[in-house]
Amino acid sequence: MRTRFIVAFTLLMLTGCGTGTPVSTTPMSNAERLELGADSYQTFCAACHGTDLRGTTQGSSLLSIVYEPNHHADFAFTTAIKDGVKAHHWKFNDMPPTASITDDEIAAVIAFVRNVQDLEGFDQ
Ligand code: HEC
Repeated sequence: MRTRFIVAFTLLMLTGCGTGTPVSTTPMSNAERLELGADSYQTFCAACHGTDLRGTTQGSSLLSIVYEPNHHADFAFTTAIKDGVKAHHWKFNDMPPTASITDDEIAAVIAFVRNVQDLEGFDQ
């Protein structure tokens, strides 16, 4: 009983609380969110992941099948943006944590990337 509680609690800590897509506190329409996401993407991500999301010599393509939502869910994006990523899928360097990005911008960047993934599809 006690063990089950601890397991459930640990799972909750690992999967819930604080690792989900940040809840945007600012009301905005989908169009506004995508626009903020597009701007924030160019500011914070494009240098490595490419202005067209297809990668550079510094970072991977976010249209790689590796990043489809079932494999890299939104919380993986949030964690990557907030905490950075140790190189593990590719032979690029580590991704550093993104400095001075707001929760609104994170939520917007994820919405923007998912929208482009939907529109363009994934490379293999
Ligand atoms: C300084 C370069 C750099 C910047 C800036 C950068 N990234 Fe990355 N990112 C990388 C590299 C390199 C990897 C691949 C690490 C690996 O798996 O080998 C990566 C991986 C990722 C991943 C996959 C995480 C995982 O769990 O495998 C996501 C999602 C991601 N980046 C999103 C973003 C977003 C969104 C931004 C902008 C807010 C951003 N990155 C900015 C270099 C960068």
